Amino acid sequence: MTSPKKKLIAGNWKMNGSLESNDALVRSLVAGVKDVDCEVAVCVPSPYLAQVQMLKSGSKLELGAQDVSCHASGAYTGEVSADMLREFGVRYAIVGHSERRQYHGETDALVAEKAKAALAHGITPIVCVGETLAEREAGQTEEVVKRQMAAVIHVNGHCISEIVVAYEPVWAIGTGKTATPEQAQAVHALLRKQLSAATGHAERVHILYGGSMSAANAASLLAQPDIDGGLVGGASLKIADFLQIITAACAQRA
Ligand code: 13P
Repeated sequence: MTSPKKKLIAGNWKMNGSLESNDALVRSLVAGVKDVDCEVAVCVPSPYLAQVQMLKSGSKLELGAQDVSCHASGAYTGEVSADMLREFGVRYAIVGHSERRQYHGETDALVAEKAKAALAHGITPIVCVGETLAEREAGQTEEVVKRQMAAVIHVNGHCISEIVVAYEPVWAIGTGKTATPEQAQAVHALLRKQLSAATGHAERVHILYGGSMSAANAASLLAQPDIDGGLVGGASLKIADFLQIITAACAQRA
């Protein structure tokens, strides 16, 4: 169902950037989003939160982190808590990105706890779900994304309409192989249905698409009724491409 909310475009820089390149990128982005009619965020590596917080000050650009600890504080070397992120004006935190599930062994249950920690401290979790190529080819896409989503709903049911969901088919991430708008829409629709069973406000939830979103394919993906924005990796580091994706998003309402 089409709803009147604004689209959300979030850049995920992953482990990229430098003080110098961030400065140029964020200054251009701040100028570029000045009059846009959609929501825009960048999820940056933790050491750069302070820099980007300062650079974006007074603009409509929102700041995001790429992960958050499920713990509040204590002896958890290397972890960053939601409270700490809040101190840097962080609005969003990606949780359960497939790279963290794959390389850091994050389970559905841990991802759900991270979403809970973020919500408890006023940070909107961007919960990533998505199937691998082997799972898609085995016809397990629906089962996998529903299982990943169910864990988050189970732990956060009471405030599930406060989260953002990102459908990121693993086979489309960084590969240049994008899901077709129809393939993505089919999964977004089933995620919306699953959220509807848990909340009366599922239409409010932004469900983003991620996986090789580009200036060339953004408009057709964002035209789908249940695609409310994008979680953009590689193209978010190229200012001209990222601004084109933002323009495509602003041309439509989610
Ligand atoms: P790419 O846009 O580089 O495929 O990355 C997508 C992604 O993983 C965003 O979180």
